[in-house]
Amino acid sequence: MELGYFWSFFYFYAAIFFLCLGLTDCALGGNETYRLALLEFKAGITHDPLGVMSSWNDSMNFCQWQGVTCGRRHQRVISLNLMSLQLAGSISPHIGNLSFLRELHLANNSFSQEIPSEIGFLSRLQYLYLHNNSLGGTIPSNLSRCSNLINLNVINNQLVGEIPMEIGSLSKLRFSLAMRNNLTGTIPSSFGNLSFLETLGAAQNYFSGSIPNALGKLTTTKALALSSNTFSGTIPSSIFNLSSLKDLYLGDNPLHPGSLPSNLGILLPNLRRLGMYKAQLI
Ligand SMILES: *[C@@H]1O[C@H](CO)[C@@H](O)[C@H](O)[C@H]1NC(C)=O
Ligand SMILES: *[C@@H]1O[C@H](CO)[C@@H](O)[C@H](O)[C@H]1NC(C)=O
Ligand SMILES: *[C@@H]1O[C@H](CO)[C@@H](O)[C@H](O)[C@H]1NC(C)=O
Ligand SMILES: *[C@@H]1O[C@H](CO)[C@@H](O)[C@H](O)[C@H]1NC(C)=O
Ligand SMILES: *[C@@H]1O[C@H](CO)[C@@H](O)[C@H](O)[C@H]1NC(C)=O
Ligand SMILES: *[C@@H]1O[C@H](CO)[C@@H](O)[C@H](O)[C@H]1NC(C)=O
Ligand SMILES: *[C@@H]1O[C@H](CO)[C@@H](O)[C@H](O)[C@H]1NC(C)=O
Ligand SMILES: *[C@@H]1O[C@H](CO)[C@@H](O)[C@H](O)[C@H]1NC(C)=O
Repeated sequence: MELGYFWSFFYFYAAIFFLCLGLTDCALGGNETYRLALLEFKAGITHDPLGVMSSWNDSMNFCQWQGVTCGRRHQRVISLNLMSLQLAGSISPHIGNLSFLRELHLANNSFSQEIPSEIGFLSRLQYLYLHNNSLGGTIPSNLSRCSNLINLNVINNQLVGEIPMEIGSLSKLRFSLAMRNNLTGTIPSSFGNLSFLETLGAAQNYFSGSIPNALGKLTTTKALALSSNTFSGTIPSSIFNLSSLKDLYLGDNPLHPGSLPSNLGILLPNLRRLGMYKAQLI
């Protein structure tokens, strides 16, 4: 009897010990950190007409809450997907505590206020979808710390200010989409370092200055959308070096009346669409 007791305790603690071994989660208070961070995120939501967030309660483990996906082996949140659920409110800075997050998908809601710079703590983040919301303020430079980011989509928000130069250090970035905001300044020349960039979408903002010559280094880029801004000066000839380009939109900018090279079809053999609407070209 006594001995049986001893062994059951022994196995219990041994099991806990081995579960914790190799898991930094245990040292950090693990699962509880993620649960609290999710509850803080829920607290930032002020409008939820579909009652989505009511499933985020203690009757179920947080890995079962709507929109939450945990890793297969550990109770670590790897994805938060709450797209198109008519949610309004702010994005809690506590989101930065979901340290294993790979995907944050909040597109097509009514999130307002600023993008929290704590997202920069999410070093494993690959997909950040914030398009179709009402987010204001600037793009935080700390996003540049999300060194695994592949897709950054902030289309159709109320973002102002300049694109931080540091974003150009996101070396895995393939899609950088910021159309339909109120961004100003120029495209940082550090973007020329984004050697995997497939699409750069900056149309319908208030970008100004000249189109950076450095964009001519984006040899893998398939789409470049810079239309409907206030870019001035001439189109840098380096742009006509981008032989992978399929879509090029430069129209509706006060660009210097210039000429497209007559051998455009040879320089850009893959070009399907050329948007030069309202551009003054001779
Ligand atoms: C998130 O982490 C910070 C420290 O980095 C801590 O102060 C805060 O309480 C944490 N939030 C949650 C919800 O665990
Ligand atoms: C808690 O979540 C469960 C599962 O989604 C749901 O059935 C239940 O109604 C929720 N409880 C409350 C009080 O909202
Ligand atoms: C966006 O959300 C609205 C409702 O707010 C919905 O009608 C529409 O289908 C959603 N769009 C997409 C692409 O999911
Ligand atoms: C963005 O919002 C508009 C209007 O609600 C909707 O028609 C569109 O489908 C949304 N797009 C995406 C990608 O969710
Ligand atoms: C932003 O990044 C700086 C370093 O680049 C760091 O010291 C700071 O803690 C970060 N702040 C937030 C809120 O992420
Ligand atoms: C963005 O620009 C539009 C059109 O000029 C304007 O109506 C809106 O107030 C601006 N929003 C911000 C946050 O600056
Ligand atoms: C591009 O990257 C190189 C090295 O990786 C760095 O020295 C240079 O400053 C970067 N260029 C820009 C414009 O950020
Ligand atoms: C076009 O690319 C070639 C080779 O990659 C380079 O030598 C040349 O300077 C580039 N032209 C422009 C205008 O950037």
